[in-house]
Amino acid sequence: MLSEKMQAALNAQINAEFHASYLYLSMAAYFESQNLLGFANWMHKQSDEENIHGMKIYHYINGRRGRVLLSPIEGPKTEWKSSLAVFEDSLKHEQKVTGLINKLMDLAIAESDHATISFLKWFVDEQVEEESNVDAVIQDLKRIGDAPQGLFIIDRELAGRKGEAETEGEDAT
Ligand code: FEO
Repeated sequence: MLSEKMQAALNAQINAEFHASYLYLSMAAYFESQNLLGFANWMHKQSDEENIHGMKIYHYINGRRGRVLLSPIEGPKTEWKSSLAVFEDSLKHEQKVTGLINKLMDLAIAESDHATISFLKWFVDEQVEEESNVDAVIQDLKRIGDAPQGLFIIDRELAGRKGEAETEGEDAT
């Protein structure tokens, strides 16, 4: 059984993941309004991943015979000054989520809840990857500065991002 404290913390993380999904969807909508459809594709895929993260926790709580309690999702930001500003916000957001996952892990360790420690390890690794993916785009955007040709090329590249289900079975390169 999950402790009440652990259950409440995991429910709060479901909310944080769904908020992240909503935020990335809002970023996708921003990019679509700018006609940057590759950037929008990247954000849609990210939004879908966040939804998957929320559902992983949802199923975990149920698997431990706990109780999922959903709560209102905070509204996302809707406007940004530039593509770079969007990705800088993404990185800040991912860093915040990393902090939340670390706190969850601290709690699981303090409670000697080995099942939750094992479950959360996937999220710890995922956060390393997510921060790194966002940072890679930030570095590209910084490199091109205001050059529209550069933005066009990055947009083309980001159009190629596939969803998790589409990449299953492919070699990680
Ligand atoms: Fe689910 Fe981007 O953290």
